[in-house]
Amino acid sequence: MIVHNPKPCLRYDSRVTAAPTSAVRARGLSVVRGGKDILHGVDLDIPAGHVTGLLGPSGSGKTTLMRAMVGVQDNVTGELTVLGEPAGAAALRRRVGYDTQAASVYADLTVRANVEYFASLAGLRGSDAKDAVDAALTSVDLTFHAAQRIASLSGGERSRASLAATFVGNPELIILDEPTVGLDPVLRRALWELFRRLADDGRTLVVSSHVMDEASRCDRLILMRDGRVMASTTPDDLLADTGTTDAESAFLALIDREGSAS
Ligand SMILES: Nc1ncnc2c1ncn2[C@@H]1O[C@H](COP(=O)(O)OP(=O)(O)OP(=O)(O)O)[C@@H](O)[C@H]1O
Ligand SMILES: [Mg+2]
Repeated sequence: MIVHNPKPCLRYDSRVTAAPTSAVRARGLSVVRGGKDILHGVDLDIPAGHVTGLLGPSGSGKTTLMRAMVGVQDNVTGELTVLGEPAGAAALRRRVGYDTQAASVYADLTVRANVEYFASLAGLRGSDAKDAVDAALTSVDLTFHAAQRIASLSGGERSRASLAATFVGNPELIILDEPTVGLDPVLRRALWELFRRLADDGRTLVVSSHVMDEASRCDRLILMRDGRVMASTTPDDLLADTGTTDAESAFLALIDREGSAS
């Protein structure tokens, strides 16, 4: 069970309150990878201060979209604005946290050394760094494993260490690619509660998943399929619009609707 610091990583930053209403805005966003069209003219707005779920089946383009938001994706065309700056702008480096689908931590370092390293990249020093590292480890319930090398952790512990490394710099926009994969239901619930608290504290979270039942945890949903946005909505509106009672049925109803419209 995750034991939460009631206020994880809470060093309030005036930039958060000054953030534009749309944390991410895309218009006509297209991406080519390996010579193939992967995203096809995506339009979307992700509101600041909320948890937005990016849902869609494997291969629908979730990771590609996230990589474009962070500015690490080549061959991107169209308009993509992140926290009021062009995606990938140097000014965004400390304002955006990205946890990749595969845990991005150093296997030969301890959990604490990894999180300390990311704290230093975020410009934290001395007692500020120590407090932030402690809070990040507590928020993902890894304090007990702080001295353990990443290589000896379980898969779920490793992905939580990667999350701690993402949270430690207290970024305004937190982009998490399938952070709950492979975690047990108790841990998944605790992490969603943590995401909720971070949003309540003014952070913007974009969380991808192909587990449709995680939709109900989000404030807003972007449903993707084959490199397109099928719907940008709220969990309640999704169910109401499709006359269904769960997100998986709603997703299938949208696919059926698209099929009968074409
Ligand atoms: N370098 C590449 N060359 C060709 N195709 C690629 C390349 N990288 C990604 N793709 C394709 O782009 C599509 C979207 O991939 P992406 O990783 O964004 O999907 P995803 O929605 O994140 O899937 P998953 O849920 O499995 O992580 C997939 O069909 C994938 O095969
Ligand atoms: Mg992916």
